[in-house]
Amino acid sequence: MSNIAVSFENVTKEYQQTAMFEQGIKGFILNLHKHIQTRSSSSYQALKNVSFEVKHGEFIALIGRNGAGKSTALGLIAGVLHPTLGRVAVNGRIAPLLELGAGFHSDLTGRENILVNGVLLGLTRKEVRAKADEIIEFSGLGRFIDQPMRTYSSGMYMRLGFSVAVSIEPDILLVDEVLAVGDESFQKQCMNKMKEFKARGTTIIFVTHSLKSADDLCDRAILLHHGEVACIGEKQAVYEYYRTQID
Ligand SMILES: Nc1ncnc2c1ncn2[C@@H]1O[C@H](COP(=O)(O)OP(=O)(O)O)[C@@H](O)[C@H]1O
Ligand SMILES: [Mg+2]
Repeated sequence: MSNIAVSFENVTKEYQQTAMFEQGIKGFILNLHKHIQTRSSSSYQALKNVSFEVKHGEFIALIGRNGAGKSTALGLIAGVLHPTLGRVAVNGRIAPLLELGAGFHSDLTGRENILVNGVLLGLTRKEVRAKADEIIEFSGLGRFIDQPMRTYSSGMYMRLGFSVAVSIEPDILLVDEVLAVGDESFQKQCMNKMKEFKARGTTIIFVTHSLKSADDLCDRAILLHHGEVACIGEKQAVYEYYRTQID
């Protein structure tokens, strides 16, 4: 296995936007005659010619303002999105912990979702059953585990998402701003788990808003700004750049 876990080579990701998405409904209606004439729609580049590499065992923080393209980058690594141009290469088993609730069915109970999700992530049913108790215990959801997930708070969603993702023992763990919604004790529990993973050599790509939360764990950081890599390298240097040039 090569020592590169993830690589982006000149990756551009374009979303097709309808005029309605850009202008809001009111603007769209006001300009309706124009849209009928031109059938206007446009594309938006969420990532522009992005290149970087993450080595196996690295803990990378992906930072940047809202809308910078962080979740798009994770979606490309997870394979739920595809690049418009360029190449994304991934080497190893991925556990994606993407935006809130991705991958859960709100009408199923937490316990049922563990089974569905575990299988989607590549475990056999037998393996998931063997791990279920451990997952439930780590989630700390108690009796809520047998309630439909639509009754869960966002923090409870994240607890279960994180618990399932870490249970598959991935080579590459993707974490998208998960700590923002959990309570403090769960945040601590997640950080400890990530510390354990790091010690084991798991690659972790961690999207974060708060520069503090990943501070002690991460090695390097990537700063995205308007869909471009503004800065990449040693975390202190990247944080400093973020604080002084962008934030
Ligand atoms: N499905 C979509 N269709 C159109 N535009 C999108 C879509 N998803 C995201 N975008 C746009 O792409 C940009 C980057 O989004 P995102 O990757 O979610 O940023 P971040 O996670 O850094 O906040 C934003 O301007 C967002 O509005
Ligand atoms: Mg995001």
